[in-house]
Amino acid sequence: MTDTQKTAQLSLNGETYELPMFSPSAGPDVLDIRKLYAQAGVFTYDPGFTSTASCDSTITYIDGGKGELLHRGYPIDQLASKSHHLEVCYLLLYGELPTAAQLEDFETRVTRHTMVHEQMLNFFRGFRRDAHPMATLVGVVGAMSAFYHDSTDINDPWQREVAAVRLIAKLPTIAAMAYKYSIGQPFVYPRNDLDYAANFLHMCFSVPAEEYHVDPILARAMDRIFILHADHEQNASTSTVRLASSSGANPFACIAAGIACLWGPAHGGANQACLEMLKEIGTVDRIPEFIARAKDKNDPFRLMGFGHRVYKNTDPRAKVLKQSADEVLELLGVENNPLLQVAKELEQTALNDEYFIEKKLFPNVDFYSGIILEAMGFPTSMFTPIFALSRTVGWISQWKEMIADPQNKIGRPRQLYLGETARDYVDIENR
Ligand code: CMC
Repeated sequence: MTDTQKTAQLSLNGETYELPMFSPSAGPDVLDIRKLYAQAGVFTYDPGFTSTASCDSTITYIDGGKGELLHRGYPIDQLASKSHHLEVCYLLLYGELPTAAQLEDFETRVTRHTMVHEQMLNFFRGFRRDAHPMATLVGVVGAMSAFYHDSTDINDPWQREVAAVRLIAKLPTIAAMAYKYSIGQPFVYPRNDLDYAANFLHMCFSVPAEEYHVDPILARAMDRIFILHADHEQNASTSTVRLASSSGANPFACIAAGIACLWGPAHGGANQACLEMLKEIGTVDRIPEFIARAKDKNDPFRLMGFGHRVYKNTDPRAKVLKQSADEVLELLGVENNPLLQVAKELEQTALNDEYFIEKKLFPNVDFYSGIILEAMGFPTSMFTPIFALSRTVGWISQWKEMIADPQNKIGRPRQLYLGETARDYVDIENR
């Protein structure tokens, strides 16, 4: 954080207050209002944090105008085409691309932690079979703090490191177990000879009764989905993880809080909602009807997979996924997939519509991901768990950054109170 030497002046009730400004390495200047209440006795009001930086960070940068997403400075399209998920995990966690030796060491550490405590299998069996896998995920990840006590001391850097590696390693296993449980199939143990994405496909789709061959092209597409969801600066679930962690809660509890937040349809739940919407639309001739509904202020319907708080031009992740959807469907011999046709036509129609142009609404990461995941064989209920396992590294990197920050203090927003002022209690017979 660089001090610009610039200040802003606030005039209030005849007094003038100097507000310091910070200049980030990229992005707009930031007004420092930390002393505002102490000096001027006023709060600021910003529901949804549309103008508020809640922390400083060196992990991810988004330029919403340009449609740019950088992790530690590296553009997402370069990472998606040249890197792989565990290398991106290393980059997010430690700040630099690893050397070959560092990568090998990191991959070995993650791989050694892919199994879960055997007692957890019994824990899973307490859930109903028809539970949504996200419900199971929230519960099981929260319960990790009961199984891995030896990595819950947040003041011990080594335990923080072990918790980070455990979460990255075990989330695919837990997500796959949630899936297997929901379809009544036996849990499949991880295979450490497979890479991260191939192992996840193996745990989801293999059965003990027969050999399962992981298609390397599908594993690559899966890995790309993981990379594209790995981090996204201070989004709702990441901010939830940071806020939960600001009280000193253990990492497993904090990540469970992040998963709960991600589940909502305005955030990670949009990938499931988007595919369900595409299915409901069904054929291209029904697109105008749904576009009209999305524009109707009296209809709560929104075009799922469209719009973003930060991107106002294009979501670079959606571009990569659109291309990936074409490749995967071609590989699977379903180029004429009707959902992909509806999606492409819907995108074109919306992008040429005055409402979407004026409000700067574009396809986001959730628009094409569901089509790829469904073609791979995942049910819609698994889309958000896959987002959660991919985002785990982002949450944990931001969590580690926050704990190590000497400025870290409990998150405690203020409010604009509009309720009753003090009044005397009225006995029940007099109300
Ligand atoms: N369909 C129709 N209208 C929309 C949409 C949409 N998808 N998104 C925003 N608008 C309208 C909205 O009604 C509002 O209109 P007005 O100014 O007339 O009131 C205007 O655009 C601005 O929307 P907003 O809700 O104030 O913007 P926001 O930054 O608070 O919300 C959003 C961003 C992503 C929650 C929202 O665009 C949305 O609900 N999109 C659909 C859900 C979705 O795809 N979510 C995934 C987001 S990307 C991945 C992730 O974060 O997990």
